[in-house]
Amino acid sequence: MKMTVIGCGYLGAVHAACMASLGHDVVGIDVDRQKVRALCAGKAPFHEPGLEEMLAQETAAGRLRFTAEPTPRDLAGAGIHFITVGTPQSDDGGAADLSHLMGAVDMIVELLDPTERTVVVGKSTVPVGTAHTVEERLAGTGAALAWNPEFLREGYAVEDTLRPSRLVYGLSADADSAFRGRDALDEAYRPILDAGTPVIVDSFSTAELVKVAANSFLATKISFINAMAEICDATGADVTMLAQALGHDERIGRRALGAGIGFGGGCLPKDIRAFVARAEELNKGESVAFLREVDAINTRGRTRAVAAAEAALGGSVTGKTITVLGASFKPDTDDVRDSPALDVASRLHERGANVRVTDPIALTNAAIDKPHLTMVEDLHAALTDADLVFLATEWSQFVDMDPADIGPLVRTRTIVDGRNALDREAWNAAGWTHVGLGR
Ligand code: UGA
Repeated sequence: MKMTVIGCGYLGAVHAACMASLGHDVVGIDVDRQKVRALCAGKAPFHEPGLEEMLAQETAAGRLRFTAEPTPRDLAGAGIHFITVGTPQSDDGGAADLSHLMGAVDMIVELLDPTERTVVVGKSTVPVGTAHTVEERLAGTGAALAWNPEFLREGYAVEDTLRPSRLVYGLSADADSAFRGRDALDEAYRPILDAGTPVIVDSFSTAELVKVAANSFLATKISFINAMAEICDATGADVTMLAQALGHDERIGRRALGAGIGFGGGCLPKDIRAFVARAEELNKGESVAFLREVDAINTRGRTRAVAAAEAALGGSVTGKTITVLGASFKPDTDDVRDSPALDVASRLHERGANVRVTDPIALTNAAIDKPHLTMVEDLHAALTDADLVFLATEWSQFVDMDPADIGPLVRTRTIVDGRNALDREAWNAAGWTHVGLGR
């Protein structure tokens, strides 16, 4: 099937490469020329395990190409035009900024041959009701619209795209459009469907909501355990043991119960804020008012982490050398958007600490985001003469460090485990003071 993928960021670049790997003929479109140049050369513009190999293979095989200057020919004959542009938080509040999305729709309207009966498929995360507006904008083009949210996690994006937990199709209220939308999606995802992947088919609004509801639930689960961590701190209980005990109940489950400095990234924080903003527009603000609390607990996690560092240093971080391990918002990505690690590092810097940040791959992005912080590539150099080490992102390189090996590098053997990811006994046995959050 010929298809286009409009927007080649974390979602679109992976989606384009994965669709080509299924045998489709894919044109990726993005306004960022530098990104397009890299993609054309088979290079991933960001770190995502498995992506670069796939890009190189599919571009070489001729099934995948990219352009920053789409023409009617690039769109002609495609069975699906996937829209995968970002919907970031607007500058003036919590609502989603839909300008890239509407720009992509306008581009399709402009370039599409109106005699073609193609299908436009929105994958971007959007406020409920957006698909309806997009459908109105497409009126007159002959294109049907479907909404098909994605649930991929950075670091596992290729795997999550090719072996998703479920597929969700949001179809039009118009029967012909709904039929065409479903048919096109079935054709695009045939091998994934044949593998037995569950498919949920419903309206635009259900599909739009599934995505924000899923991310809201995950964010709530993380903030729930961080709220419990606050109570653990006040009572001497251990949140990691609590999570373990809760997790054995299959109705609860252990995943997303990792207490620490909380969630960040390009999705969870902005999605819960956009959901609150949209619910308020619908006069249903009270239905998701708890998400404000989820957000507040999450921010408090960063504050508590800084307080833990201060306490570990006798009440003040001023003039102390602190090594922050990790810059990305989670391991296996170089994405630093709303990274709790960089936020904690900045707060320590603001309080007068001499902060050094180290990360296996995210330092280039970190330096752009936080130019005032000192980035140190070499882990040993970063640790040398530290008064305090702060684990902010649980990269395996950090979690697997031998505390006895690195002990002689630092000035004081104190580590704040901002992700509760380290083996406390092993660190204590090597002469370190291990400070957990909620333990
Ligand atoms: C999230 C969702 O998990 C995906 O299903 C969704 O498709 C994606 O957003 C999206 O909307 O595109 P992602 O942002 O890649 O994926 O990251 P997660 O793995 O969910 O982690 C989010 C944050 O929560 C990270 O900062 C992580 O460190 C933190 N986290 C995660 C915790 O603090 N505790 C946990 O137990 C789990």
